[in-house]
Amino acid sequence: MTRIFSGIQPTGRKHLGNYLGAIVHYVAGQDRGEGIYCVVDLHATTVHYEPAGLRESVNDTTATLLAAGLDPERCVLFRQSDVQEHTELTWLISSATSYGDLTRMHQFKDKSGKQRDLVTAGLFYYPVLMAADVLAYRANEVPVGDDQRQHVELMRDIAERFNARFGEVLVVPEGRYAAVGARIMDLQVPTDKMSTTGGTPQGTVHVLDPPEAIAKKFRSAVTDSGSQVVRGPDKPGITNLIDILAAVRGVAPEAVEAEFDGGGYGAFKQAVADEVAEYLAPVRERYAELSKDPAEVERLLRAGAEKARAIAQPVLADVREAMGVGPRR
Ligand code: TYM
Repeated sequence: MTRIFSGIQPTGRKHLGNYLGAIVHYVAGQDRGEGIYCVVDLHATTVHYEPAGLRESVNDTTATLLAAGLDPERCVLFRQSDVQEHTELTWLISSATSYGDLTRMHQFKDKSGKQRDLVTAGLFYYPVLMAADVLAYRANEVPVGDDQRQHVELMRDIAERFNARFGEVLVVPEGRYAAVGARIMDLQVPTDKMSTTGGTPQGTVHVLDPPEAIAKKFRSAVTDSGSQVVRGPDKPGITNLIDILAAVRGVAPEAVEAEFDGGGYGAFKQAVADEVAEYLAPVRERYAELSKDPAEVERLLRAGAEKARAIAQPVLADVREAMGVGPRR
């Protein structure tokens, strides 16, 4: 069976890009294979953060994932720091990681440029921890948004180099990117991706925004010159809205273009506003229920960690054995 692994950061509130680019594909993965999903609290410590709020963010993100349809009976859902195999494997695969490759990571360049004081070594090493997350489970597939392509390529290189040097121990994973929705853009600045840290407040739609707020953000979305509802390089605003509606409906963007052909921007924006608000409303309602019982969310995370550990431990034992680390088995 295909083993699917993905991770999500507990920082901030999750937005529509996270939802359409990743979370809906985690949910679908539960039916396609064995889904293993991880809230990556250790990655969150690589930039400035408030220790007092981290546990709560993990709880919030977990509740959002459950509200979106992850079912702990049908997948493994856990907190990264509960499974120490991730950090041990990070160190072990360091010996198969190229320093030069790490210096070329776009995300490090972007994020380090935005840090006001300390650029941590953890931020530089972030992609190695991410590789360990996936490799510890011998996962075949990694559903992620477009912004993670370079990190997925790096983990593939690490796995290949490891296997060439120490024997066929690790599985080389494949990235899986949504056909539509892998790169949702900011509604106000549609040439930039929607993002928790870099985006505009009005241009970022949060999964838990109330329906009126969502509708308002879409109605004030920046559009382009002209009036045709068609995609094109000179129409980043309309292209983004077409992609969003297509992803929400689960149809091809061409179907959206055909339906709104000749109708003008106003009616189209109103339709996107209404449909996205309606699409996210049940998630928000389930989240409200789940967040009344943080102890239950915590219980689910711990049970998930047990299952995750049972998969990762034998992989780590094989890695240690192959590397000649520790006593002979
Ligand atoms: P994170 O938490 O930043 O984002 C979670 C997922 O959302 C996707 N995403 C987007 N998709 C479409 N449009 C956007 N505007 C958009 N913004 C974000 C991301 O690509 C991601 O899939 N490094 C990862 C977390 C991670 C991970 C892993 C992922 C840690 N370990 C192992 C896969 C496997 C991250 O920062 O995700």
